[in-house]
Amino acid sequence: MSSVTSTPVVKGLEGIVATNSSICYIDGDRGVLAYRGIDIHELADHSTFEETCYLLWFGRLPNRSELKDLQERLARERQLDPAIIQFLRTVPEHALPMDVLRTAVSALAFYDADEKNNDHDANVRKSIRLTSQIAMIVAAYDRIRKGRPVVEADRSLSHAANFLLQLNGERPSDTAARALDIALILHADHELNASTFAARVTAATLADMHAAITSAIGALKGPLHGGANEAVFRILESIDNEKSDAVDYIRKMLAQKKKVPGFGHRVYHTEDPRATHLRSMSRDLGRASGQPKWYEMSEQIEKFVKAEKKLNANVDFYSASTYHVLGIDEDMFTPVFAVSRISGWAAHVIEQLDDNRLIRPRAEYLGPDYPNHYVPMEKR
Ligand SMILES: CC(C)(COP(=O)(O)OP(=O)(O)OC[C@H]1O[C@@H](n2cnc3c(N)ncnc32)[C@H](O)[C@@H]1OP(=O)(O)O)[C@@H](O)C(=O)NCCC(=O)NCCS
Repeated sequence: MSSVTSTPVVKGLEGIVATNSSICYIDGDRGVLAYRGIDIHELADHSTFEETCYLLWFGRLPNRSELKDLQERLARERQLDPAIIQFLRTVPEHALPMDVLRTAVSALAFYDADEKNNDHDANVRKSIRLTSQIAMIVAAYDRIRKGRPVVEADRSLSHAANFLLQLNGERPSDTAARALDIALILHADHELNASTFAARVTAATLADMHAAITSAIGALKGPLHGGANEAVFRILESIDNEKSDAVDYIRKMLAQKKKVPGFGHRVYHTEDPRATHLRSMSRDLGRASGQPKWYEMSEQIEKFVKAEKKLNANVDFYSASTYHVLGIDEDMFTPVFAVSRISGWAAHVIEQLDDNRLIRPRAEYLGPDYPNHYVPMEKR
């Protein structure tokens, strides 16, 4: 191959296959998402987040004792170095939870026993540790910024239930814990989405797991990716505050050529299979908590955008109203996405490092012709 690029670029790498992977199967035409070949609908109906982590990290479903072992390891890792809690207490008051999470995860490396070890087993240990720690950081920072005491972890609870306990200071109902558990399963992995690609690019330089996950969190923040769930709720809230008609509000957005957060997808040309579950969770939880308006507004918007633009709701659209009725603040929605997606990021970093090659694509050069000579300062 020539060392000067001549192939035209595919903007945004659309449709480009950039790696082999055995983790996530997506059929964008049929709306299929599967982890290790198991359909997301089966996992949402029957699995737990912990079992899904096992599936992602070890490549198959665990037997009873393997699952128990992983649950115990995750529970044992529910601890943060006091320096991390101290850091959370000292960030500026206006610091966004997503920025705090990114910085704290980077700092976790200082206190990780496996920091300098990049082998397979060390990366599995770091995956388990980071999964527990990320949930704790997200919950603890929300408490600290609200002037509330940090809540001790309960090692007897599931990952989802413990997160809600540490966030809200009270044991969640079984319904709330299971709803979050399903949301965590649905968000766990999604092949080469932007943040996972960022994680793999960083890992492929042989930087460590913490560096890769820090890159991923940076990429997840943007409103075209994980930040969309927060943007969706800000719209629902402003429709509610202004007592606007939901359809009129969105019609105006489209007339101004704005993108409606929570709609469209690079890969799915049909319903995002994750939206199917989140839609019914948003409806059921909204009704059960006496706040059906968020779902009702969302449903009107979905119908309108589908009719007007032929765009389907994606994972972020109904997760916004679901998280709101679970008592989660909107600037915490994207951090909650990270609480789940750490499982997929970690699986991809392990897979990348198990068969690594530096990821280094080329750019199509469009600058001044070569050679374009240096002009001395006095002649410019
Ligand atoms: C997800 C997303 C980034 C995919 O981007 P993409 O594959 O690069 O697709 P494009 O942005 O090029 O969109 C293709 C066309 O659909 C339109 N479109 C896509 N998503 C849209 C949306 N949410 N609202 C309105 N129009 C949208 C674009 O304006 C574009 O129209 P055009 O060809 O007339 O210019 C994009 O759909 C989007 O920005 N969605 C909103 C943010 C979001 O929900 N992100 C979370 C994804 S899970």
